[in-house]
Amino acid sequence: MRPFTRRAVLQGTAALGGSVLLARTPFAGTDLPILRAAPALAQLAPTGFPETPVWAYATDSFGTVPGPEIRVRAGERVRYRLQNDLPQATAVHWHGIRIENGMDGAAPLTQAPVLPGDSFEYDFIAPDPGTYWYHSHNRSTEQVARGLAGPLIVEDRDPWLGELGAATRELVLVLDDWLLGDAAAIVEGRWDDLHAAAHGGRMGNTVTVNGMAYPDLRIRPGERVRLRIINAATDRIMPLALPDLSASVIALDGHPIAPRAVETLVLGPAQRADVVIDGRMDGEARASLLLDPGNGTWVEIAAFVHQGDPVATPSADVRPLPAWGTLPAPDLSEPQRETLLMDGGAMRGMQSARYHGDTLDFRDLAANGMVWAFNGVAHGMDEPMFRAELGRTVHMQMTNRSRFPHAIHLHGHHFTIQSQSGSANTAGDVRDTVLVGADETVEIAFVADNPGVWMIHCHMLSHQKSGMMGWFEVA
Ligand code: C2O
Ligand code: CU
Repeated sequence: MRPFTRRAVLQGTAALGGSVLLARTPFAGTDLPILRAAPALAQLAPTGFPETPVWAYATDSFGTVPGPEIRVRAGERVRYRLQNDLPQATAVHWHGIRIENGMDGAAPLTQAPVLPGDSFEYDFIAPDPGTYWYHSHNRSTEQVARGLAGPLIVEDRDPWLGELGAATRELVLVLDDWLLGDAAAIVEGRWDDLHAAAHGGRMGNTVTVNGMAYPDLRIRPGERVRLRIINAATDRIMPLALPDLSASVIALDGHPIAPRAVETLVLGPAQRADVVIDGRMDGEARASLLLDPGNGTWVEIAAFVHQGDPVATPSADVRPLPAWGTLPAPDLSEPQRETLLMDGGAMRGMQSARYHGDTLDFRDLAANGMVWAFNGVAHGMDEPMFRAELGRTVHMQMTNRSRFPHAIHLHGHHFTIQSQSGSANTAGDVRDTVLVGADETVEIAFVADNPGVWMIHCHMLSHQKSGMMGWFEVA
């Protein structure tokens, strides 16, 4: 691989002890709580199977998958010293947080990867309430698949829980997908599987909810509960259903929407939904969280087991979440227009694409591990896809010319869906990751109000690794 110039610059900075990046932090290097990344064991497969060796985050002695829940109130700081006790370099990305650039964790673009034995201080403000997550952003195809992901919950500024029509309790559900083999061990050595990358990515065979296969979740009859659902899978799109629970979506990717009654919802990798459910009052003890593994059937991945005294279901309509109030509205009178063309993959490959400045045919691309391109460029990390002036509205037309859906994520910004040709999105929704189906076009707009260099990539991490990655600069 050719040397990456920005990385060299940042490594120079890191060599000074990282202090330059943290100049605004009054307590740098003193008393930050530790977020440790290290090998651990987890009981992922059902009881009776062995524990699975994973890589996990820990804030006390035991690493868990998902990682420990980080919870702050909107406007508060998140501060951790990442301690890398893994055998590989790593970095933590705080997905969906409109963060300052140096804290974004997008190695090697915004920081040098943290070497084994080293540490890095993350210290930033979480400005917007909502359901977010954190995960490794170095060799993430492997590191996220090994377990390096956890929930990051930013609580509402104004009270919502317990108010009229709101839920009385919340439950965070981190959904993940594991490829387990003999003795419930993660199947290794296929991180670069180009065949999988040219299709839907590296699919697992075990879906877990909060690190458990098919858990029972307790709920009281009639109880109104806010589920914060996070798809932490590397590649699996999760069509979900919550029958018999009067489900309403109240937020997508952290951003409130007018409550929307749903029977099913689709979460691409990295997407989140906050869903209000009402426990059953019909005397049935169970209700299911169902997932379609891709063959049109519904499989139960968790059960809501009704226990305890019934609660009178709130008769009021589901209460909307308080608005963020912090996201600037795009000015669409004269936006900067950008396009994102997605090409490649099986069944409709690309003839050629640019890779590190050279135009390669599909054979040479594949020989370099590339099967996807954005705007005709595979792994476009040498130069920005575009630059936007600080404060400018960017309108981007994303067109998927491949036979597979993609979950496109922009760092540092949230965007408004303007229009789309398929069915998975609703105009007006604000997101940080959007599913663009095969042959679909989605138009988005956002105000480039966060200075820095920001990644844009497919969050199917196998696709990201095999070409669907780039960046833009706001200055
Ligand atoms: Cu959730 Cu670039 O990542
Ligand atoms: Cu993709």
